Amino acid sequence: MVKDERPHKVILVGDGAVGSTYAFSLVHQGIAQELGIVDIVKKRTQGDAIDLSDATPWTAPKHIYSTDYSDAKDADIVVISAGAPQKPGESRLDLVNKNLKILSSIVEPVVESGFDGIFVVAANPVDILTHATWRMSGFPKDRVIGSGTSLDTGRLQKLIGEMEHVDPRSVNAYMLGEHGDTEFPAWSYNNVGGVKVSDWVKAHGMGQDKLDEIHKSVKDMAYNIINLKGATFYGIGTALAMITKAILNDEHRVLPLSVPMDGQYGLHDVHIGTPAVIGRKGLEQIIEMPLSDKEQKLMTASADQLKKVMNKAFK
Ligand code: LAC
Repeated sequence: MVKDERPHKVILVGDGAVGSTYAFSLVHQGIAQELGIVDIVKKRTQGDAIDLSDATPWTAPKHIYSTDYSDAKDADIVVISAGAPQKPGESRLDLVNKNLKILSSIVEPVVESGFDGIFVVAANPVDILTHATWRMSGFPKDRVIGSGTSLDTGRLQKLIGEMEHVDPRSVNAYMLGEHGDTEFPAWSYNNVGGVKVSDWVKAHGMGQDKLDEIHKSVKDMAYNIINLKGATFYGIGTALAMITKAILNDEHRVLPLSVPMDGQYGLHDVHIGTPAVIGRKGLEQIIEMPLSDKEQKLMTASADQLKKVMNKAFK
């Protein structure tokens, strides 16, 4: 629960490219009044804290400092971006064993600090690590949220916006499922101004192959960026800042996040990407989208893939 009577405090665990970009987004958008940064490379967090603070005279006051897990005790949110990133050709699921190990070294001391806020998980494979954070922390389900398909959905909106020459913020679209290779667009819903993207494509002399091309571009975008520049961080860093803002400002915002299935889409015991309502209490509502038969099959297949990897990793 985000407490109102004091400045909003975020603890960032993992000061790599994603964490540092996220921190810069918080500074630039004036999100949170306090940011503690934790990383195994202490010097990096000390340098980043000073460097980030240098931007605050032109953005908004913020107490930014290098710290350790004990400082999570009165934080509103702990963001976990610590973990090995994908290497060229590596899938997010390939990271599961090494990043579960890193995760367990984080969750325990955070819980031991007396933290009673909301976990936001971004490290990959994010659906499995979000589920693992929930299990390791013993927190209620509504206080462990994963970035899910929020970034993928942004990528989808961007591509549809480019195709239809509209502002991506005006594109009503979702990527659902795993934040990974089995994710899929909700074409039965995705629309601009109420006109389904699939109908727009048909009306412009194109067909399913165009929709498939967009799906593949979104699904492969991280691989493409990693091949070009070695890592992704601006998209996810900004998405995490948006999630943080929605929680701290009690926005009751609907975002496609990694949330716990409790019968939605016929699924249980898995965290997966679907629209969810978040606010100061964390996860407020899970929205089960009306899927076509084809989309339901894709959602089930995505959950099966996550469970297969999860069950092996949790053994
Ligand atoms: C990406 C990382 C965050 O999709 O998984 O860019």
